[in-house]
Amino acid sequence: MPYKLLFVCLGNICRSPSAENIMNHLIEQYDLSDNATDSYRDRIVCDSAGTGGYHVGSPPDARMTYAAKMRGINLVGAARKFQVEDFDNFDLILTMDKENYRDVLRLDAAGKYGDKVRLMCDFCRHFDVKEVPDPYYGGKDGFDYVIEILLDACEGLLEYLISEKKVVINNS
Ligand code: 4NP
Repeated sequence: MPYKLLFVCLGNICRSPSAENIMNHLIEQYDLSDNATDSYRDRIVCDSAGTGGYHVGSPPDARMTYAAKMRGINLVGAARKFQVEDFDNFDLILTMDKENYRDVLRLDAAGKYGDKVRLMCDFCRHFDVKEVPDPYYGGKDGFDYVIEILLDACEGLLEYLISEKKVVINNS
């Protein structure tokens, strides 16, 4: 069974699809640089969702897509809303800011899934920030900043998954 990651923001058109696609990009890079016979791509599955439903079905925001492209990352996907079933369907739920974190936990009525829900920035190694700021109403710099934070956090997350043996591949 692959280890399943769900990235969550508000609209699922800026931050969480970036996190999903950056994570997939880093996983591909790890696979290319590894001499393993096995691949992380088969062991880790990434998805993303929004706590709000305003943009359901929409592709990632064009400004976010441009910022990602400038760092060599292609954004793909269509927005969907977070659903209660996601608690069971995913191993780890990474929220972009504290409001997303609270909104997700509010849907866990029985308080069963708290251990699965984390703030994305807990995995940053270089940026000393608690949240990935919402870039939607700001300028270009905000979108570039989101990409830089997420590159750091995704790298830290991947190293955590490997070092904590959440994902193991066969090396030879
Ligand atoms: P996201 O950004 O949560 O990173 O996808 C936003 C997208 C849309 C809106 C707010 C934030 N909105 O208000 O429509």
